[in-house]
Amino acid sequence: FFGASGDLAFKQIFPALQALVRRGKLDMPVIGVAKSGWGLEQLIARARASLLARGGVDEEAFSKLAGMLRYVDGDYRDPVTYAQVGAALGPAQSPLAYLAIPPSLFAVVAEGMASLPTGPKTRIVVEKPFGRDLASARALNEIVHRYFPETSIFRIDHYLGKEPVQNLLYFRFANSFLEPIWNRNYVESVQVTMAESFGVAGRGTFYEEVGAIRDVIQNHLLQVIALIAMEAPAVNNAEAIRDAKISLFKSMRTLDPDNVVCGQYLGYRAEAGVAPDSQVETFAAVRLFIDNWRWADVPFYIRAGKCLPVTATEVLAVLRYPPHDIFDRAEAHDPNTLRFHLSPDVYIALGARGKRPGEPMAGEEVDLIARDQPGDEMTPYERLLGDALRGDTTLFARQDNVEEAWRVVDPVLGERPATFPYAPGSWGPAAAETIAPAGGWREPHTTPPAPDSTDQQSIDQALLAAPEATSASR
Ligand code: BG6
Repeated sequence: FFGASGDLAFKQIFPALQALVRRGKLDMPVIGVAKSGWGLEQLIARARASLLARGGVDEEAFSKLAGMLRYVDGDYRDPVTYAQVGAALGPAQSPLAYLAIPPSLFAVVAEGMASLPTGPKTRIVVEKPFGRDLASARALNEIVHRYFPETSIFRIDHYLGKEPVQNLLYFRFANSFLEPIWNRNYVESVQVTMAESFGVAGRGTFYEEVGAIRDVIQNHLLQVIALIAMEAPAVNNAEAIRDAKISLFKSMRTLDPDNVVCGQYLGYRAEAGVAPDSQVETFAAVRLFIDNWRWADVPFYIRAGKCLPVTATEVLAVLRYPPHDIFDRAEAHDPNTLRFHLSPDVYIALGARGKRPGEPMAGEEVDLIARDQPGDEMTPYERLLGDALRGDTTLFARQDNVEEAWRVVDPVLGERPATFPYAPGSWGPAAAETIAPAGGWREPHTTPPAPDSTDQQSIDQALLAAPEATSASR
């Protein structure tokens, strides 16, 4: 892995490597490459420091990992570096080269790896951001394709490595009850929220180059929408799933600036690495449309930002009201909803109405909840690194998917409407109301609704929860 002394290696790669060793899924030389003037001892020390900071050292697994580590110190532009990498690879047949480096160095490292005898069988992992816009993503794809076929390229979007994100696909197509209502006839709108209660957390320099749309909407959140909205793949394999996604992406209408409101939290400009007059958005609200038979005219909303009141990611589908309401006409109430809460807690909640006990035929809101059963889950990086080693591209973004997602956001990346300031701890600038869903933006649930202790019925994972604790707040 190139970039062995960098931030990504520290935060994600070493913990994922140790986890893979623990599961018995890693038994091969792991070569860190960097230009730091280090030797192997420093690499091992860095790995230990990373694990201490990120979840803990498992001495047994760590000592195995330390035994697998190799280190090559050198300039990525120097052919000698690749000669040393080649020597460290020894008899390896099809190495996996992880490019945990800035995109400006992709071409030079790709060329260097391709020049080795293992070149034709080398696979490469690249990190987001994959491009800055449609033109640069195409240029980057053209560069990596000079050396590697698409089947050897693993573009990481760590959201695809998350269990609850994979469950969007599974839940939709492993069940039969959802499909009949999962369309414009029953779904009024869909809102995806990715709220973070913290700021740029020391990543000001990086963030200045991206902003919320590039950082999380073009990739993570459009991928989530693809999984929510796509047709069933023909079969369960990488190409069929990515084919289904590309049809969906092609139906997404290119964003119109009138459907985007950007904001910047007060205090952002004082962060290290941020320009004093920065216009970079730390918040974006988006309304987008999918022009196909299933979703014509159904608005999909996205709200993503830093320094919002909570940290939570969820998808909320708001269903249409019953065609004729015979019970609760006098009382304003929410329509049915289906909520996929992706983080920090994981659950799916069907917001329904039930009769309130008593003489009147009047109702109240209840949530039918399927909770995640915490298991032996892999972190996204462990999962993705393991999949890449095995050569499974299912959870990686294919070239056409990435480019179509850039096409959708491209017009709002350059010249854009003004970025509005907002107070940290608020839900972004008031201007976001101008594109709000009918009934207003809905806040994500922040804790899983607690089951009513006196009336708890557990039918497998489904719980009927108390309405007071569960109704959606706006
Ligand atoms: C990253 C973004 O891709 O995703 C960050 O660069 C963001 O800005 C992060 O905080 C969120 O990921 P997660 O897994 O914590 O939801």
